[in-house]
Amino acid sequence: MKKILVLHGINLNMFGKRDPAQYGSVTLQQIDEQLGGLASELNVAIECFQTNHEGEMVEKIHRAHEEGIDAVVINAGAWTHYSYGIMDAMAILTAPVVEVHMSHVHSREEFRHFSIFSNIARGQISGFGVNSYLLGLRVAVDILSEES
Ligand code: DQA
Repeated sequence: MKKILVLHGINLNMFGKRDPAQYGSVTLQQIDEQLGGLASELNVAIECFQTNHEGEMVEKIHRAHEEGIDAVVINAGAWTHYSYGIMDAMAILTAPVVEVHMSHVHSREEFRHFSIFSNIARGQISGFGVNSYLLGLRVAVDILSEES
């Protein structure tokens, strides 16, 4: 069975408790549960991981690469806009990467328009709340089926 890693970056453990106008009321646990349900429907295995520590995120990406992860869906939170460390770690991956955001980053402050992953990710889905994640997982599975 193909395995997909879902990475949640800095501050995303606070979904449900932060800025409901941007992120709604859904919690990270609920997002992970919905992803788990969709993963079983699509017949893939997923692992969801969240950290607020950049080095921990980088090491998780290294391990995923060494273990031969099939695809990665990432919402790096604010790291998206500036973390060269996470960008370099993601660039090591040979697996396809899909970038997702709950909020519509292109309609928000200018610093959110730039993504450090734009050369690495196959594409970006933003603005659809939890559906951004669910669509991201569907796209990752589609890429894997097209490329196998
Ligand atoms: C976010 C958008 C980022 O700009 C922000 O820093 C976040 C969440 C999103 O999911 O909409 O923390 O990645």
